[in-house]
Amino acid sequence: MAAATPFITFEGSEGCGKSTQVQRLAAQLESLGVPFLLTREPGGTAIGETIRELLQFAPQGKGMFPETELLLFEASRSQLVREIIKPALEKGICVISDRFFDSTTVYQGAARKLSSETVEKLNALAVGDCVPDLTIVLDVDSKTARARMQNPRRPDRMEQEPDEFYESVRRAYRDLAKREPNRIVLIDGTKATDGVSEEIWRVIVSRFPSWAERSRSSDTAADNPQSAIRNPR
Ligand code: TMP
Repeated sequence: MAAATPFITFEGSEGCGKSTQVQRLAAQLESLGVPFLLTREPGGTAIGETIRELLQFAPQGKGMFPETELLLFEASRSQLVREIIKPALEKGICVISDRFFDSTTVYQGAARKLSSETVEKLNALAVGDCVPDLTIVLDVDSKTARARMQNPRRPDRMEQEPDEFYESVRRAYRDLAKREPNRIVLIDGTKATDGVSEEIWRVIVSRFPSWAERSRSSDTAADNPQSAIRNPR
């Protein structure tokens, strides 16, 4: 995938803070006037959101076998890639996804212990050449993850798993980051939200320098009331 239009994914276990960080990055890009699209997995399309409901909350999901789960995640992904992600990137719109294929490698491959070759093949079938330019993994221990899951939102099927499951998830993300250091950056997700956002932004501008230039010129505009009035973002 050409790095001219970045495709960025966020990963990590439950409670790692990625959804907050995705929102913060979106706000930052908006303030810089960068065209972008936010999406998530599973979901992001009408078909994908129906699959999400089945995977996470539908009572029928209770007896789901790991193989069925794997195929449903891949089905949601193959639709999202073709309906949303590729067309956006082709139009020069940056895509930010809350989870993508690394989640399947980690959750269904490592944590559910399905064959890694099968997971790799199905991931490849679903994404084709649509591989992220940058993946941010927010690393949190299972205790922190568990504590952050204790909030009033609807608990999903995956959140019923024991701590060992989340330890496998964490280990697998760390291994992936070691295996693919050019694409995957591991960031400590236990730190304060602002510090995490700053670290993410530093990583992003080091990878996509044109955003650093936009950021500098918007800082100058903010320091200079006249240009701020001309460009009131
Ligand atoms: P989240 O969007 O709130 O993080 O929830 C998505 C859940 O689905 C989370 O438990 C991780 C899980 N998941 C997988 O197990 N495999 C996948 O491929 C994806 C995208 C998510």
